[in-house]
Amino acid sequence: MTSRHDIFAELGLSPLWLDRSRLERQQTVAAPAQDLESNAKGKPVESDIGVPDDNSPQGGGAKAPGVSVVQPVEKMDWPQLRQAVAECTACVLYKKRRQAVLGVGDEQADWLIIGEGPGAEEDARGEPFVGQAGKLLDNMLSAIGLARGSNVYIANVVKCRPPGNRTPSLEEAEACAAYLDRQIDLIQPRLIVALGKVAARRMLGRDATLASLRKTLHDYRGIPLVVTYHPAYLLRNLPDKAKAWEDLCFAVDSMSGLAGAQDAQQ
Ligand code: URA
Ligand code: SF4
Repeated sequence: MTSRHDIFAELGLSPLWLDRSRLERQQTVAAPAQDLESNAKGKPVESDIGVPDDNSPQGGGAKAPGVSVVQPVEKMDWPQLRQAVAECTACVLYKKRRQAVLGVGDEQADWLIIGEGPGAEEDARGEPFVGQAGKLLDNMLSAIGLARGSNVYIANVVKCRPPGNRTPSLEEAEACAAYLDRQIDLIQPRLIVALGKVAARRMLGRDATLASLRKTLHDYRGIPLVVTYHPAYLLRNLPDKAKAWEDLCFAVDSMSGLAGAQDAQQ
């Protein structure tokens, strides 16, 4: 079992800076992890942005095969949503994916974590945040007493891997928006944590610096939302882990404030 001490070390918050060298070692030996770490860099590596196929999920009816009626995304249940995403061709990202990655976790979670998009390992395994950034995310969750799958759901802005782990375009995020919105409606989380700039931009509808968005309780369609750094960014900018820790504490405080407010109402 991972101890609290290990978690703090992993977050770079203890004096155990030897963990940093361990991270660096891992980064040099693990080729897929390096691939992943370029995910949130915001650096387009391929120009594959083209005209999406004309079956946007917002168009009032993505087809959910196995279900005889065409169901609008906003009415889908989990199996229909899973199937619709698996077969979606609403943006160019479907062309190079191995599989779409809907999300993972507790479908009744209080916490919803939103990342950017699947990387190589996620595309191969069909689960979000299973690479190097995912290990850090798991440790971040663990530091605040949470675990993947238990009261937490993890999803991404786009469900298909952007080739070369480039940043998903605004059009792609928009094309995929109805799926994430449906996930939010089904889960009804009490707090959303947006990881990194792409998630923040998608949820808040504006392109601001991450620093300016931290430590504020935002709102997404009536659900409180906080913003922090993307774990892939933190792997490259270790000193900012301390800020991520502050953000997690802010998130926990916000969640307890929400619990307090709810108790007071009852
Ligand atoms: N980065 C993300 O934003 N999402 C993942 O699922 C993996 C890495
Ligand atoms: Fe469809 Fe989203 Fe995949 Fe684009 S990223 S093909 S909108 S599921």
